[in-house]
Amino acid sequence: MTLPKHCLRMDQLSKAQIETLIDQALSFIDRDAWQIRKNTRCAGRSVGLVFDEASTRTRCSFHMAAHALGAHTIDVPQQTSSAQKGESLIDTLCNLAAMWVDALVVRSADTQWVNQLDALDPRPCVINAGNGADEHPTQALLDALTLVDQLGAVDRLKVVMVGDIKHARTAHSQIKCLQRLGLRDLVLAAPPSLLPDELPEAAAHTTSLAEALVDADVIMTFRMQQERMAEATRQGHLQDAAAYKLTAAHLAMAKPQVRLMHPGPVNWGVELCHSLKGHPASLILKQVGYGVAMRMAILCQSLRGL
Ligand code: CP
Repeated sequence: MTLPKHCLRMDQLSKAQIETLIDQALSFIDRDAWQIRKNTRCAGRSVGLVFDEASTRTRCSFHMAAHALGAHTIDVPQQTSSAQKGESLIDTLCNLAAMWVDALVVRSADTQWVNQLDALDPRPCVINAGNGADEHPTQALLDALTLVDQLGAVDRLKVVMVGDIKHARTAHSQIKCLQRLGLRDLVLAAPPSLLPDELPEAAAHTTSLAEALVDADVIMTFRMQQERMAEATRQGHLQDAAAYKLTAAHLAMAKPQVRLMHPGPVNWGVELCHSLKGHPASLILKQVGYGVAMRMAILCQSLRGL
């Protein structure tokens, strides 16, 4: 199965292509030892990481994934690059391409850079590690991998998304990814001010967290994306969201085997109660491990034809 050269948006990928990535990612995990299977499939390849926003999980797991495939990485934090002298993000990418960097993993607060790649040398593949409040496709794919490996096919699940769905790029990509995989029962539970401007088709939404949680198999929570809120609306958003902070009592309203997910970073005490840290229902740190395997699969597929 051929995949698109670049990984920029979830709607680029068909169900079969997502399943191919999940299958390949699973082949990179030794479940018994809960360890990554290293190999040399991308030996000699180079991966540039160009981030102008903070990151722990995405940046470090792409480093881990590249090294686990025998590739090497070049970190280009925009805080210490020539972006500080006025060089644009696209010019930075063009210069890395001119150095024969094979893959570019890019995170930027700018939503539009994914539409500005025409100027780039066609050789390197580009992976979107987050473009503003728009998309975060590799997080959606690793969350789908987590669900499939932990719970099986997603089409029979009830998934409830809670919190700041409006500003969470992960949620935007995740809705597309899970619906592409056949998810039918998706409920968005948030105050009206934190729902997306364009509500996804075939998803229910409610302001009642208790109503949403009935029979839930999976609860996905999202951080309040304060950095993407206008100053004038931030306090109002935080007040609106206070009623959606999840507690153990909320988990008890869902199915007995409910699983709790969060893409991270978690603001404990804001979207999740401190007592949920280490809760048996939580998949939050497992998601991080699956992230390395999924990013190995994405790099393998992206670097395949070079
Ligand atoms: N989930 C996620 O994108 O985390 P980071 O911002 O730490 O990369």
